[in-house]
Amino acid sequence: MPGQIHFKTSGKRVDIGNDGEVNVLRSSIRHDAGLPYRCAGGLCGTCKMRVEEGRENLSPIRKAEERILGDLLEQGYRLGCQTFARGSCTVSWDPSQAKGKELPKLREFWEKYGGRPSFQQTSRKP
Ligand code: FES
Repeated sequence: MPGQIHFKTSGKRVDIGNDGEVNVLRSSIRHDAGLPYRCAGGLCGTCKMRVEEGRENLSPIRKAEERILGDLLEQGYRLGCQTFARGSCTVSWDPSQAKGKELPKLREFWEKYGGRPSFQQTSRKP
């Protein structure tokens, strides 16, 4: 059941497509939807977003979200980098939550170095 992620704060709407589910932060980065981020790995909390609609279409809450968000989970907050959407949802955020944090500009990095970084296992000598 594909749908759209509505990034309410920036006004952007992104189709989920037929991939089944998409990571909310990754979708925001790819389509310049503006969700703030820093680590993209569940460590900093910069990608905190409020799910206004479609909570039932999101992946289960992860341990990193419990650790960082605590009671905010009950108020509908999630971390964009830890959340996958498999159906329509609407998210919003406080535009000032990234103030003072330099963003890594992952998209430019990926473009410069040919796509997402791969973490291939290299053989080790015993
Ligand atoms: S970007 Fe750091 S927790 Fe999501």
